[in-house]
Amino acid sequence: MTDPTTLHPEVEGFFDEATNTISYIVRDPASNACAIIDSVMDIDYAAGRITYEHADALIARVRELGCDLQWIIETHVHADHLSAAPYIQDKLGGKIGIGSKILVVQDTFGKIFNEGTEFQRDGSQFDALFEDGDTYMIGTMEARAIYTPGHTPACMTHVIGDAAFVGDTLFMPDGGSARADFPGGDAETLYDSIQKVLALPDDTRLFMCHDYGPNGRDIRWETTVAEEKAHNIHVGGGKTKEEFVKFRTERDATLDMPKLIIPSLQVNMRAGEVPKDRDGRPMLKVPVNGL
Ligand SMILES: [Fe+2]
Repeated sequence: MTDPTTLHPEVEGFFDEATNTISYIVRDPASNACAIIDSVMDIDYAAGRITYEHADALIARVRELGCDLQWIIETHVHADHLSAAPYIQDKLGGKIGIGSKILVVQDTFGKIFNEGTEFQRDGSQFDALFEDGDTYMIGTMEARAIYTPGHTPACMTHVIGDAAFVGDTLFMPDGGSARADFPGGDAETLYDSIQKVLALPDDTRLFMCHDYGPNGRDIRWETTVAEEKAHNIHVGGGKTKEEFVKFRTERDATLDMPKLIIPSLQVNMRAGEVPKDRDGRPMLKVPVNGL
């Protein structure tokens, strides 16, 4: 195992313009092993059409690098894009992993989407369910999953050497933080989770799951703990929990639902599989006034 204190994984980000999501390939410099974090499956929701351009780009890059894909990680059940995890697994192998609190998310949205008994609420759609502090290997690199709930109950941050993949726990310093008003979300919990991330060493590289280029700046997805502590507009510069919770709650009340929340939840709570109707055809539902 590479010494975690000197481990510096190679990280490549792939920006998805349609959903402002960044997917990552994380490579072990000491072996040919890699992981993909937060992949995206393309959907034209109005047309009910799913395609794989973004996932194919990730797959092509892994092949070009000659990497052995060992893990396909979801930082959480995304509400704004669909995961391509099973498509990538089919092409490249690897285990699909998510936080064990996925069971809570499956229970909540299993009810909202009125799923039948064929939808298991036990996380069995995933290959690995991480508990807080669990470690797993990517080649010689030890990765550690830490619970960072608040945006959703199952959010985890994955720390690999000097790199941390924070999901939607934080945005870039000028973007602040993600909303905490989805079912199971909580602003106070999110604040505590952000403090866990900010307790990592100051020079830890932080990789965001989303960036919206606030105030017209170019899209960026990498920052550091020191930068976030000093400059994050929602939690930096010593903002208190009370200030954060008040701001976050007021802001969330003004936000529209993400455009792709309905298809995203149905697919992502199944580890990226599109649900099927009773004849086995891929089919999505819309719960009317259900969200
Ligand atoms: Fe999210």
